[in-house]
Formats: sequence, structure tokens, C-alpha cells
Amino acid sequence: MGVFVAVACHLCAGLLALPAHLLDLLGLWKPLAIRLFPHLYVNIALEYHERMYSRKKKLFSRLPDFTGPSGPLKVLEIGCGTGCNFPFYPRGAKVTCTDANPHFQEYLRKSQAENDHLHFEPNLVAPAENLFEVGDASVDVVVSTAVLCSVKSVEAAIKEVVRILRPGGAYFFLEHVCADHSTWTYIFQRMLDPSWKCVFAGCNLCRESWKDLEKAPFSEMKLQHICPPFRWRPIGPHITGYAVK
Ligand SMILES: C[S@@+](CC[C@H](N)C(=O)[O-])C[C@H]1O[C@@H](n2cnc3c(N)ncnc32)[C@H](O)[C@@H]1O
Repeated sequence: MGVFVAVACHLCAGLLALPAHLLDLLGLWKPLAIRLFPHLYVNIALEYHERMYSRKKKLFSRLPDFTGPSGPLKVLEIGCGTGCNFPFYPRGAKVTCTDANPHFQEYLRKSQAENDHLHFEPNLVAPAENLFEVGDASVDVVVSTAVLCSVKSVEAAIKEVVRILRPGGAYFFLEHVCADHSTWTYIFQRMLDPSWKCVFAGCNLCRESWKDLEKAPFSEMKLQHICPPFRWRPIGPHITGYAVK
């Protein structure tokens, strides 16, 4: 029964995503997806953000612990999208927002205007894998939520995180990841992955990002595997925590 449902899901997803797959074959989909994704995401992610609220509140309550000796806290967020994490940042923090997709800027500026408890540095449109405009050891905290699924190279993105963090600074993450291979969720993830990736601007369902984190040269790691209250969904399994340089 489960196999039947999984295969049916695969076929349905493939069928629904067929126009996107065809445009992709012609090389026309990616530029379009990059433009469309922010408008789609701002609507579909509302429930996700609501359900993650308490989890994020708990995670980000540790941010002030990493304020550098010269204060205030310097935060750099990678793939910040619409800026949904700003309400969790402590008053007075200096925040640098980076994202590879320039079409999020409209939503990002709106969030920045609504979060006047923070001081925003100029926004950077840049991939997490190459933040050359950001100095070595120049920030106290790096944040990413639902970003490692979409970067081209998790390893390169984490290498940049380590470079820009000051010694003793921390990388805070909340990322959806690949499910345990013995579960139905994993089978659904594998079935949906090609269409999901195509429609949702390169978002991978089957990344095992914790492996890259565990390999990176952090001095301390608090990493938890969690399943938020939407267990059945392909983006159910998450990792969350922080890693100290
Ligand atoms: C699913 S959205 C998450 C947005 C936001 N972090 C949140 O939690 O709502 C993924 C974000 O990662 C960004 N992104 C994708 N690839 C990226 C890359 N290589 N470098 C930086 N950001 C990237 C996307 O543009 C998008 O804003």
C-alpha cells in the first residue's frame, strides 16, 4: 500500500511539475523560478513559520551569549529571504542580510522597516558559498534557516561561515534534512525530490547537511535532530542547534 502511495505521489508530482520540467529542458525555467519563488514562498511559508515559532524562540534566545567583547552583537544571516527571523534577534544587534536571490529584496526591506529594534548593515546579494565582501572573523553569529537545502555546495557554504565567524562566535541553524533511510518519509522525499527541486528553486529534500557540519572545524557543536509538528510532510525532519568556532 505504502509503495503504491509513494509511486502515485511521484507520478502526481511529476505531472504537476511537468510544465516546469519542460521549461527547464529549454533552459527557461530557472530565471523564471528565481523571480517567482519569493512571491510563492511568502505565502506558502506562513504556516511553516507559525509552527517553527517556539522552536526558533528557544534557539535564538542563546544569541546574546555570543556578543563580542566590543558589542553590540554582530549577526550575519545567509539566505535570509523575507527576513522572518528578525523578531528573534536581540535589540540593538547589527544585522547583515545576505541572499543569492535579488528578488527577495522587496520583502526583505519591508521586514527591515518593521524591525526597528535592529540596526541593518547594507544588504548583500551574494551566494553563501562566496561572501568575499565580508571580512575574516568579522561577525559574532551567523544564522541560516531553511537555506542549506538550496545552496549549491553545503561544504563551501559552511567553509565561508567558519571564515567569517570570529573565534568563539557561533553558527545557528534550523534546516530541513533527509529523513532516516528506513522510513516512509525518506521514500516520499526520494520520490518527490526531482519535481520539488525544480519547482522550489533548487530546494533539495534529501540533504544530509549534518554530515557537513560535523566535518567542519568547529570547537563545539550542539546539534539536535527534530521532527516538528508536520511529521508527514517531506520537509518534516530538521536539524537545529549551534556550532561554536
Ligand atoms: C526556503 S528559503 C528560506 C528563507 C529564510 N531563511 C526563511 O527561513 O524563511 C531559501 C533561501 O535561501 C536562498 N538561497 C538559495 N541558494 C542560496 C545560496 N547559494 N546562497 C545564499 N542564499 C541562497 C534563497 O534565495 C532563499 O531566500
